This record gives sequence, C-alpha cells and structure tokens, in this order.
Amino acid sequence: MTDWNKRGKPFARIAGTGKAVPETVITNADLEQIVETSDEWITTRTGIKERHIAKRGERTSTYCIKAAQIALDDAGVTAEELDFIIIGTISPDMRFPATAIFVQEALKAKNATCWDISATCSGFLYCLYQAEALIALGRAKKGLVIGAEMLSLITDWTDRGTCVLFGDGAGAVVLTEATDERGILSTYIGSGGDASQLLYCIGHGSAGSNSSRHEVPGQQLLYMNGNEVFRHAVRIMDKCATEACSRAGVHPGELDWLVPHQANARIIKATAERVGLPMEKVIVTIQKYGNNSSASIPFALDDGRREGLIKDGQTVLCVAFGGGFTWGGSVIRF
Ligand code: ACO
Repeated sequence: MTDWNKRGKPFARIAGTGKAVPETVITNADLEQIVETSDEWITTRTGIKERHIAKRGERTSTYCIKAAQIALDDAGVTAEELDFIIIGTISPDMRFPATAIFVQEALKAKNATCWDISATCSGFLYCLYQAEALIALGRAKKGLVIGAEMLSLITDWTDRGTCVLFGDGAGAVVLTEATDERGILSTYIGSGGDASQLLYCIGHGSAGSNSSRHEVPGQQLLYMNGNEVFRHAVRIMDKCATEACSRAGVHPGELDWLVPHQANARIIKATAERVGLPMEKVIVTIQKYGNNSSASIPFALDDGRREGLIKDGQTVLCVAFGGGFTWGGSVIRF
C-alpha cells in the first residue's frame, strides 16, 4: 500500500484527461423498437436516457487513440515521453496483442511499455493502482491510463435486462510525477471470485471449448444476473469509499466530489447517501452514456473537469464495482 501521508505528498498526479465516444446515439425510444421495454422503465430503474454505440468494423483502440491524444494535449505531454500505456478493458480489439499495443503504434509512443488489464467495471481503478505504484517506485515518470469498452459487440440485443444498460467509448488520463500536494492520495483494489457466475462472458475463452471444439453462439455474449449483482453493489461501493478515504487520510466530509462507476443511478444515489455526500457533489453521467464499464470513471472525470465542476485543488473520491467481483477506490486531489 502506498501511504502518501508518510511522505507528506503524493507520488503521481493526473495531469490531463480526455474521452472519445462513438457518434451514433441510441435513445431509450430507439430501444423500444428492438426489445419490449419503455423509456419509463429504463429511466426509473437505471437513470439511463441514451448511450453511444460504435459502428460495426470500428475497434476499441480507435476510441482509445482519440481519448489519449486529447488527454496528452490537455497535460502538455508528448507520446514519446510516455513510459507506459495501460488499458482497462473487457472488450479488447483482439485476444492478443493487447489493445494498448495498437494505441502505442498509433501514437508513436515508442518508449512506452503497454498492456491491458481485465477487471470489468473496476478496470480503470485497477490500472490507476498499477500506474501509481510504478511512479511511486521510481520505475516510470509519465504514463497513460485508459478505460475503454465496446460492450455493444458482446451484448445480447434480444435480452432487455442487459441491452438497455451499456455504451461504448474510451476515457484516458495522463499521469505524471506529483510536484506538490495535488495528486493521487490513495488507491485501493480488491476481488471476490465467489461471484464469478453472476456476471461473465465466456467469449473465445477455454471455458467455451468442448470435445467437438464448437463454440455455442450465446457464449460470445455477456451474461448478467442484474438483480443479484445489484444486491452486492452498494455494500461493496461503500467499503471502497471507506478504504480509499482512510488510506488517503481524508474524512468524507473533506471530499468535494464523488465520481462513482456509472452502473445504475439507484446504486450511485445509495452510495452517495452512505458516504454522506449530497447528490450535488456527485458527478453523474449515466443519463447520457449508460454504463461504460472500465470507461465510466474517466468519462465522468473528464466531463467533470471540462464542465468546470472539478476544479484545481479539489478532492475527488472515485469508487467502482464490477463483474468478478472486482472493486476499487481512489482519492485524487486535482
Ligand atoms: N424493460 C422492461 N422491463 C424489464 C427490462 C427492461 N429493459 N429489463 C427487465 N425487465 C423486467 C424483468 O423481466 C422483471 O419482470 P418480472 O417482474 O415480470 O419478472 C422486472 O423488470 C424486474 O426485473 P429486475 O431484473 O428485478 O429489475 P431490477 O430492478 O433489478 O433492474 C438492473 C435491473 C437495472 C439490471 C439492475 O438489477 C442493475 O442495475 N443491476 C446492477 C448492474 C451492475 O451494477 N452491474 C455491474 C457492472 S456491469 C459489468 O461489470 C460489465
């Protein structure tokens, strides 16, 4: 565990943010034409009004590259200065190479080491955890952390319980060494494998092969027992908030913003209540993007900064929870 309090200041800071979403917007009314659902149900049960969906043929890396370039420009950092590119994604371009490799190639980030992390909706915070540790250990000075998904490709568009939830795109942050009190004050991650049957996608994994070596088509798609997942979400998000704040030495009352993973407006509201923050101090983007899994926290950080909500010097708590289960929290001073 990095204990920034012992050192007196953080090791790494977020110097720039960026995001990129597909042009195509699917509204709740559009979904009413695809499955038996209604704008009323989706809005009251999830808070989602619309989501951006990629066109067939586009790649996850397409959006990573766009988001990364915006974040680099925002930070005033060049691609050549990057020591690493880490991407949190469960919908990569390919089984291998890592999506981060394609981003390296496109950006000409020739000095970067690049890899992906599969940690569902906590993917961004898992990446941040590793990235901060690399900088804290002195093994890197600058790097890119990206959360990116194209879940539309593994969505069952006949299942109204899941197809109304997800959206595509990528969010990126540039990390540099911290030079003052601004930076990552804590990172915390955790996993609980006892719930892996509640939310998964076999895809082309070995669990999908059988003696005839034929894959079952449905295995390519995401499965979620939403109701059961929901039951655990608030409790775990609350635990993440407590851990991240305590590791940062920050009382929840000192927080300016809560940036939760955007899975469901009801989970977000309940988390804010447990942390003790009014909804005016919560960055909510779910209505316009849906659940973007790994990308949802960097989306919210970028929107929060660009809309003038998150200001320099303010303290932000990020918390996430996703399939696996995986979870994480981080306190960041901007
Ligand atoms: N439109 C209309 N009716 C629907 C829809 C829909 N889109 N979807 C489900 N229903 C129906 C169900 O069939 C059910 O009907 P029934 O009572 O006649 O059987 C009823 O609505 C209630 O269904 P529930 O599944 O109990 O609805 P719930 O209130 O739990 O909401 C939701 C479902 C939104 C998925 C919720 O459970 C949720 O948000 N779960 C957590 C998701 C999450 O946090 N995932 C983790 C991150 S994702 C990742 O890691 C990739």
